[in-house]
Amino acid sequence: MAKQLTDFKITKTTQLTPRYQLLSLSAPDNCDLSIIKPGQFVQIKIENNSTFLRRPISIHDVDINNHIIDILVCRHGEGTNYLCDMPSGSTINMMWPLGNSFSIPSNPNDSVLLIGGGVGVAPLLYLGKHLKDSSFNVNFLLAARTANDLLRLDAFKAIGQVYLSTDDGSIGEKGLITQNTILNESFKHVFCCGPMPMMKAIAHICQESNINCEVSLENVMACGIGACLCCVEKTIRGNRCACTDGPVFNIDELTW
Ligand SMILES: Cc1cc2nc3c(=O)[nH]c(=O)nc-3n(C[C@H](O)[C@H](O)[C@H](O)COP(=O)(O)OP(=O)(O)OC[C@H]3O[C@@H](n4cnc5c(N)ncnc54)[C@H](O)[C@@H]3O)c2cc1C
Ligand code: FES
Repeated sequence: MAKQLTDFKITKTTQLTPRYQLLSLSAPDNCDLSIIKPGQFVQIKIENNSTFLRRPISIHDVDINNHIIDILVCRHGEGTNYLCDMPSGSTINMMWPLGNSFSIPSNPNDSVLLIGGGVGVAPLLYLGKHLKDSSFNVNFLLAARTANDLLRLDAFKAIGQVYLSTDDGSIGEKGLITQNTILNESFKHVFCCGPMPMMKAIAHICQESNINCEVSLENVMACGIGACLCCVEKTIRGNRCACTDGPVFNIDELTW
């Protein structure tokens, strides 16, 4: 699919928590956002004097009719701080859409669980919408440190059933996401994005239970288009670029 370099206008910014910002980005009318698949990401140019590489950010939601992409940004360092502080009305240049996508199973009767931790919840909203539009009953398992750190709960609840884990038990079940009792139920497909230790633990649970599982990797990236090899992930078929062969991988392909 052809990658595009486009100036998007920030039409709305919402501070969800002190660390997380939701940005709505308006595309020019001639952009066809229907080409975006769930799990894809954008590379955003940071227009300061010290951040030279674009920063990869997941596509959180797409409003095809109104030409809007939503992204969810967590303050990590200079680039993401810059993005979080950009005011409504400013312009950002993005390369899009990048990477592969989650697989939508063929049978809508299959049970599906979408598992996200931290900013890893970002790509799961648009995936949930696609699954719902394809007549799946969508289940989310979302985790954060405290109730206040859980992101976009209302948006997730509008799509499906939401199960929660928090470290302090302030909402949902107390403890690690991997201890949540919903994981005792049998699901046919699991889709997961979050911190690497969490994804590996979920992958092992799925392997033991013979559940089909896809994970979205957030390997550090530079070019985002398969040219620099800095995002390489070891797979059973050799090294693969997380930016072009991923970021979504079936756990059967990985050497975890
Ligand atoms: C496919 C993909 C999708 C992503 N989606 C989102 C998203 O939706 N929202 C979001 O907030 N972030 C997302 N990230 C992570 C985001 O790209 C990094 O946090 C960002 O590039 C850090 O840039 P910075 O300039 O703010 O921080 P830097 O100053 O470059 O680094 C600050 C710290 O962040 C670490 N870091 C840098 N890059 C990454 C990375 N890729 N993953 C984890 N840690 C990193 C550095 O090692 C350092 O410790 C995604 C990453 C990938 C690869
Ligand atoms: S980021 Fe350059 S090859 Fe993947």
